[in-house]
Amino acid sequence: MNAIAVEDLVKQFDEKRAVDQVSFGITEGELLVLVGPSGCGKTTTLRLLAGLEPATGGEIRFGDKVVNEIRPKDRNVAMVFQDYAIFPHMTVFENIAYGLRSRRTPRRTVRERVPEAAKTFRIEHLLERKPRQLSGGERQRVALSRAMVRHASLYLYDEPLSNLDAQLRYQAREDILTLHREKRKPTVYVTHDQAEAMALGDRIAVMNAGKIQQIGTGPELYDTPHNLFVAYFIGTPSINLFELELEAAPDRDNGIVATGGGVALNLHPDMTERMRRHLGRKVKVGVRPEHLHVPRMAPFEVTDDNTLRGIVNLVEPTAAGSTVYLSTAEQTDFVATFKVRLPTSYLDQEVPLGVDMSKVHIFDAESGESLSGKA
Ligand SMILES: Nc1ncnc2c1ncn2[C@@H]1O[C@H](COP(=O)(O)OP(=O)(O)O)[C@@H](O)[C@H]1O
Ligand SMILES: [Mg+2]
Repeated sequence: MNAIAVEDLVKQFDEKRAVDQVSFGITEGELLVLVGPSGCGKTTTLRLLAGLEPATGGEIRFGDKVVNEIRPKDRNVAMVFQDYAIFPHMTVFENIAYGLRSRRTPRRTVRERVPEAAKTFRIEHLLERKPRQLSGGERQRVALSRAMVRHASLYLYDEPLSNLDAQLRYQAREDILTLHREKRKPTVYVTHDQAEAMALGDRIAVMNAGKIQQIGTGPELYDTPHNLFVAYFIGTPSINLFELELEAAPDRDNGIVATGGGVALNLHPDMTERMRRHLGRKVKVGVRPEHLHVPRMAPFEVTDDNTLRGIVNLVEPTAAGSTVYLSTAEQTDFVATFKVRLPTSYLDQEVPLGVDMSKVHIFDAESGESLSGKA
């Protein structure tokens, strides 16, 4: 049973449709991450949930109650805004207490709960300070404490960590997860960072241009993206795309080969049955950088059927291995990540790489919809 549900939610600003027929449900205790590029409608969706904007169309339900006409303060939602929105003239204590006081919480409860919330975010020693005496990271933790101190029926976070440096971000992420697990309340967490989405979300909704592209667990989105947008957005570096055509490979026992531009990759036997009706179709074949292997290190046999050749343009060392930028004979750029360090002597050389064909994705070149994924 969903604790929160939105159905066909629409928000129109003059010409701009910021939220376009969005539907999703959140179960009690679930943390749903809404992820997508800047301007795709994430903040607007949160503001609709909080009641800060009226919906143009669709329905928002808390439990079985439609809340479209319910005022923000009666929805009992706690929200953390991207720009903190803390009051400069109030102390940290008063800022954190604000939501409690405006709901007429007894003084004693306020005196107990404010330091508790501050402690969770390690700012209990700053309660008497004013916001201007705090660093950005500390201000952000005031905003988090102020939201978490309340017993709300829905928690909303709008990119709360985007202003923090990496170390603080990991710390705050952990704090948010710990608190979330204690409270077990429906939560929507907005970010533009797919890695953060992966780290936090029970499920992730990928949004683009006002529409939800796909909802699923992190592994589901990574393993079976429904379209090019999701495939490209999830995973880093992004998936490589090759414009190829599907042809029968008669010498390969009912096989299918994806070819074009000097590339020829034989589809994995598990895929040929499903792909047979797409013979002759122009497709984009997606190969993730981590599914390309130096032949002698590959966890499968590398043959003519699964080899991709590329000229090495750049070898970038990573902590544990290397990221290699290549291009095919016909100038399609692609990226490979290796767990081994590739020496720079590979520069400008042509190298064969083994493609893990059991992990490729095939998309219709025109619609961008997955042909291989929705098994
Ligand atoms: N009050 C508004 N009036 C007009 N257009 C708006 C308003 N708020 C947001 N928009 C537009 O709606 C789109 C989605 O905005 P927003 O929800 O803030 O995106 P995100 O949070 O994903 O970056 C953007 O194109 C933005 O310019
Ligand atoms: Mg936003």
